[in-house]
Amino acid sequence: MADQANKLREKVTSQTQSTPRDRKTKVIAVTSGKGGVGKSNICLNLALSMEALDKKVMILDLDVGMANVDVLMGVTPKGSLISMLEEKLPLEEVLETGVNGLTYIAGGNGIGRVFSMSEDQLHHFFHEFSSLQGKVDYIILDTGAGLTQESMRFLQAADDIFIVLNPEPPSITDAYAVLKALHMKNDQLPIKLIVNRTINEFEGEQASANFLRASKQLLNKPIEVLGYIPDDDAVRKAVMAQTPYLLQYPRSKASEAVNQIARTYLDLPTQYKLGVKGFLMKTLFHK
Ligand SMILES: Nc1ncnc2c1ncn2[C@@H]1O[C@H](COP(=O)(O)OP(=O)(O)O)[C@@H](O)[C@H]1O
Ligand SMILES: [Mg+2]
Repeated sequence: MADQANKLREKVTSQTQSTPRDRKTKVIAVTSGKGGVGKSNICLNLALSMEALDKKVMILDLDVGMANVDVLMGVTPKGSLISMLEEKLPLEEVLETGVNGLTYIAGGNGIGRVFSMSEDQLHHFFHEFSSLQGKVDYIILDTGAGLTQESMRFLQAADDIFIVLNPEPPSITDAYAVLKALHMKNDQLPIKLIVNRTINEFEGEQASANFLRASKQLLNKPIEVLGYIPDDDAVRKAVMAQTPYLLQYPRSKASEAVNQIARTYLDLPTQYKLGVKGFLMKTLFHK
């Protein structure tokens, strides 16, 4: 098995040359210190905002067992990444099309199994996921809060990592712990910050300043702050209505903030790594 996995790895490495097509798909992992800071809402609404800016976006929900993106969209997924693996399904069968053409894949229970696949499953998984290469512009991973071994692997393999925090000191401290753990694995990880649920701009600036101050000693490069999303009743109402706030309340403060974050992010100079195949290589083989 180890031998065969090595063979697959070699084969894939040789195919993972960065052609322009390979570079097209970028993987963004969204994480936080604690749960409940607004990750899933940000993944969903940011994805929709990016779609409105002509990007094709897919959400991969890796926060297993939590009421996540599917619930926020009012969609019941018919399959998951895990069922795709175990039943050898084609990717299209577990791919949901949600609102406004947004595509979505549920993680499914026991996502850790992704890392203990049989040789066959590994091939299947790789083959199916590689087919996304160039078909979508961005894959957004809604990862679980805190640092499980699984989420660490996904985070380290992504092209960009967005850490979401709330302005309260405990949330900042937890986010800092995530940053530190990631930094210990790799001090070059491209980490960006989003502050959610701010009462005003000043609070957002304070929160990110505190976070940046704490991380200054750790990092030798500044962290990009993508923006602040206000605490907004529109979010709560949209969650209740199982409709993304960007669609239900497009003129709300939260929607405006998310649109601004999408523009800020898309305006950054892009430094693609290896796209989907690079992501798969790193996640599955630590390469
Ligand atoms: N900007 C916001 N304004 C008001 N409430 C928010 C905001 N963002 C999130 N919430 C509330 O927090 C809850 C949890 O958000 P969610 O996106 O599910 O967090 P996570 O995915 O990090 O666990 C939402 O159901 C909503 O009630
Ligand atoms: Mg969530």
